[in-house]
Amino acid sequence: MVFTDFGNKLSQHSGILQLMDDIAKPLPAGVTPHPLGGGNPARVPEVERAYRAELERILADGDRFEDVLAHYDSPQGRVEFLEMAAEFFRNRYGWPLTMENIALTNGSQSAMFYLFNLFSGTCEGKKRTLLFPLMPEYIGYADQGIEEGTFVSIPSIVEYSDDRTFKYRMDLKSVDGYLASHPEVGAMCVSRPTNPSGNVLTDDEIHGLSSLAHKYAIPLIVDNAYGLPFPDIVFTDEAEPIWNEDIVLSMSLSKIGLPSIRTGIVIARKEIISAVGNMNAIAALATGSMGPVLAGDLLSSGKLTDLASNVVRPFYEKRAMAAVSWIRKYFDGTEFFIHRPEGSIFLWLYLPSLSIPTLDFYSVLMKEGVVTVPGEYFFFGSDDVRKHPHYNKCLRINYSGDPSLTEDGIRIIAEKYREYSV
Ligand SMILES: Cc1ncc(COP(=O)(O)O)c(C=O)c1O
Repeated sequence: MVFTDFGNKLSQHSGILQLMDDIAKPLPAGVTPHPLGGGNPARVPEVERAYRAELERILADGDRFEDVLAHYDSPQGRVEFLEMAAEFFRNRYGWPLTMENIALTNGSQSAMFYLFNLFSGTCEGKKRTLLFPLMPEYIGYADQGIEEGTFVSIPSIVEYSDDRTFKYRMDLKSVDGYLASHPEVGAMCVSRPTNPSGNVLTDDEIHGLSSLAHKYAIPLIVDNAYGLPFPDIVFTDEAEPIWNEDIVLSMSLSKIGLPSIRTGIVIARKEIISAVGNMNAIAALATGSMGPVLAGDLLSSGKLTDLASNVVRPFYEKRAMAAVSWIRKYFDGTEFFIHRPEGSIFLWLYLPSLSIPTLDFYSVLMKEGVVTVPGEYFFFGSDDVRKHPHYNKCLRINYSGDPSLTEDGIRIIAEKYREYSV
């Protein structure tokens, strides 16, 4: 049997495959699992109650439930939700949107796959690339290009503070210089908040990137899976939701309680939305209806964003602060640094004294039942990002699970770090 290049590229081992496998695979008998790995969000009771109430309302409304199940939505997404979402963003932020600016996909992961391959790959015989201007970036992007070698990236600058925290910074001049000398770049992409680091790009950084996108006539894809105004897992008050015609904003209902229902929301200029809808018809026919049906009225009434800012954000902020305090407690006396936790559901730990690469350290921890994600997978694109001092010295820790397991997992990681330090 022969697979195509496309088949081989997409069916090979990948970091995101390992991460998703680790979420579901049982550990050997007798080992207590400490699930600090994949991106599973937490169960937040108030959010769950809101969806349950919506479902009960739908079930009580004649045959509405059966009607939702019995039809495909349009490839661009459920029309009533597209209209509601356009109205919501228009009223709330003044963004000049109509339903032609919004498309729904089966999760934002699929949206990114469409977008990345819309803007990178062979075009009129030449290769177009996708630039990630701030490495490390989300593991789930690394293998999404259909063609080889279409992703390029710029390593982050690390800014350390006195309290064992650091923040990744972007040098906009380098990004400008790169774009000036690489006319083949077809789009840029950042996640905000950033997975894995928990960084939140400042408004100035986003405006700066958006101006560069405008200058070079390419889109800036901003992955807002953890961002504003929902799920609002953003702990800094210095970030605003930002959209303009140079930005493709990708949102998701996953981190506000609906990961299993797979709903991604793309906001962009009309030509891009039309392309995403057409791609969705070919790849998936349509997007599942249940996400927009459960979330539509919650969005329109403002309840979804209220839940995000009053419940979801404080919930994760509390977990983040607890996880930071456990790291400070158990790693005390070792060389450790944490990326400033500004958002997302992860802590990003830099362990400079580690005597083995984190890919191997991950296996050491796995034997103890502690599931993490090794940092190497988050450095992809250009070769020089693998020279980043953090390349094989960082671990991503998901702190959204059971607090006692998170604490115990962190204790075990610290214990093993002491054992595997130079
Ligand atoms: C940064 C980022 N983008 C996109 C996704 C994909 O999420 P979904 O496909 O569930 O919307 C994730 C999932 O963890 C993520 O962390």
